[in-house]
Amino acid sequence: MFKTENVSKTSHILDVGCGTGQTAAYLAEKYEANVTGLDINSIMIAKAKNRMKKNRLPVKIIQGSIEKIPLPDQKFDFIISESVLSFVNKHKALKEIFRLLKNGGRFIAIEFTITQKLEAKSEEEIKHFYGFDSCLMKKDWINFLQQAGFKNIRIQKNKSISSVPEFHHSEDIEPDLYEIMDKHFDIHLKYPGVLDYRIYSCIK
Ligand SMILES: C[S@@+](CC[C@H](N)C(=O)[O-])C[C@H]1O[C@@H](n2cnc3c(N)ncnc32)[C@H](O)[C@@H]1O
Repeated sequence: MFKTENVSKTSHILDVGCGTGQTAAYLAEKYEANVTGLDINSIMIAKAKNRMKKNRLPVKIIQGSIEKIPLPDQKFDFIISESVLSFVNKHKALKEIFRLLKNGGRFIAIEFTITQKLEAKSEEEIKHFYGFDSCLMKKDWINFLQQAGFKNIRIQKNKSISSVPEFHHSEDIEPDLYEIMDKHFDIHLKYPGVLDYRIYSCIK
C-alpha cells in the first residue's frame, strides 16, 4: 500500500488501532520513518510495546481511542487504520483522523466491505455478531470519507493481505473467545464472496 507513496525518514505516520504493532514495526523498519501506534486495548498496547523493545524500534505506542485521539492537529503525513473504523463511531473517528493529518496528507484504511446488499435477517446476524452499527458497501464508505472532507478517494482490493496471519497467543485466553473465532470463520463460509474488504486511500 505504501509502495507508491513518498515515504521517507522524515515522514510522520500514525497507525491508529495498531494492535500488536505488526504494521507499525514494518513501517518503522522499512522506511525508518517516525511511527506512532495508538490502540484502545491494554493487552494490545503491552504486546506492541514489547515488540518495539525486542526489535529496538523507536515507535511510540500510546493508549487511547480513535474517537478522541490525544495528539495535536496536523501532525501526520500518513495515517493508516486496519479494520478499526467498522467497530467505532465512524463520524467521530474520521473527524479525528482528518484533524491529525497535515494538509495533503494521506489516509489509508482497510475495511470490511460487503459486495452486495444483504437481506435484513443476514445483515442483522452480521451486525449483531461483530457489533457493527451497519454493513457498508463501497459507495457507503466513499460517502463517509467524503463527508469527513477527504478527496481523491481510491479503492483497491489486494488479495495478498489475508495470507500472512501472525498469532502471538496470550496464555490466559478465555474458552469463549475460541468459540467466537469459530463463529467468525462460520459466518465467512456462510456468505461466500459477500463479506470482503477493500483498501480505501484518500487525501486531506
Ligand atoms: C485488526 S486490529 C489492527 C491490527 C494492527 N494494525 C497490526 O498491525 O497488528 C484492530 C485494532 O483496533 C483496536 N481498536 C478497536 N476499537 C478501537 C478504538 N475505539 N480506538 C483505538 N483502537 C481501537 C483493537 O483493539 C485492535 O487492536
